Amino acid sequence: MPKVLVLPGDGIGVEVTDVSLDILKILDEKHNIGFEFEIELFGGSSIDAHGVPITKEVLEKAEASDAVLMGAVGGPKWENLEHSKKPESGLLALRKELDAFANLRPAVVYPALADASTLKREVVEGTDIMVVRELTGGIYFGTPRGIEKLPDGGEKGFNTLVYTTGEIERIARVAFGIARKRRNKVTSIDKANVLEVMQLWRTVVTRVRDAEYPDVELEHLYVDNAAMQLIRRPRSFDVMLAGNMFGDIISDEAAQLTGSLGMLPSASIGAGAIYEPVHGSAPDIAGQDLANPIASLLTCAMMLKYSFDMGAASNDIENAVKSVLEKGYRTADIYQEGTKRVGCREMGNLIARALRE
Ligand code: IPM
Ligand code: MG
Repeated sequence: MPKVLVLPGDGIGVEVTDVSLDILKILDEKHNIGFEFEIELFGGSSIDAHGVPITKEVLEKAEASDAVLMGAVGGPKWENLEHSKKPESGLLALRKELDAFANLRPAVVYPALADASTLKREVVEGTDIMVVRELTGGIYFGTPRGIEKLPDGGEKGFNTLVYTTGEIERIARVAFGIARKRRNKVTSIDKANVLEVMQLWRTVVTRVRDAEYPDVELEHLYVDNAAMQLIRRPRSFDVMLAGNMFGDIISDEAAQLTGSLGMLPSASIGAGAIYEPVHGSAPDIAGQDLANPIASLLTCAMMLKYSFDMGAASNDIENAVKSVLEKGYRTADIYQEGTKRVGCREMGNLIARALRE
């Protein structure tokens, strides 16, 4: 019985996760899965109830479950808290605790949505990228870190960008392994021209390729150039491999190619597995039935595929999403003239109907 801990979190995370649970229940019946869902507070909602973004009990439940399905965390209400008490640090703690070091973020341009991108159709059409982002190391977790007072009355803020051979090797293997199942190319992103740690990154990635994946094509790009090439020749990318911070930035940029952050799923895999849409809690539209539930639904599709090896159920979701898009239904974020605008709930109902057909 697959045990799934559900953490809707804050803002639109709650609405989109609601829709996802409905869809998972339909699949549960259709494919006789026997899901066990448990729902817990996370992020700002947990801060309000318990004073911390994630409680020890919830962390323990996460460790004991087969997968964690997340919505989104954060919001203006909690923005000015001390760093370690912010909703975001709950998410980082969860990733670290589950050793979910490999964050997979596919950015696929659906033919039906190619005009929703801010880039021209002829540039983005056919784009199909998998960003593989290292998620439990790098500057997000490196020490020393902090803000210190200086004798002159000023302050010094500092973080540490650090990667070990072992950390680079394991994420590189994930990227090369995925490339083999796709178009066999990895673009590794670094800043080896300036940072020693990124020099090591490049050396280790190259070594792993040469020793273990000689059949996979490897391209190295400095992060500034990668950011440029990504909007210039997006179709030329297959797997993009990056450290934690560069991967954070590049994956948002890749998202925009597809038309909306509201379309993008992600999986964070390691000892445990967390499934999280790439979008945030979007406080500006929360509670208004305006959110796009598709990122969350495609996130469920990734969960079915990666954690539970249920390819058929996973494809069901993807096909239902495609068919509803092809029929012209759009949430506000991907709306264009001539299409039919629907809310979050209605989009979920349409996808549920497509699933049952
Ligand atoms: C993401 C988000 C998070 C990150 C924040 C909310 C901590 O931007 O998942 O990309 O930086 O990893
Ligand atoms: Mg981000």
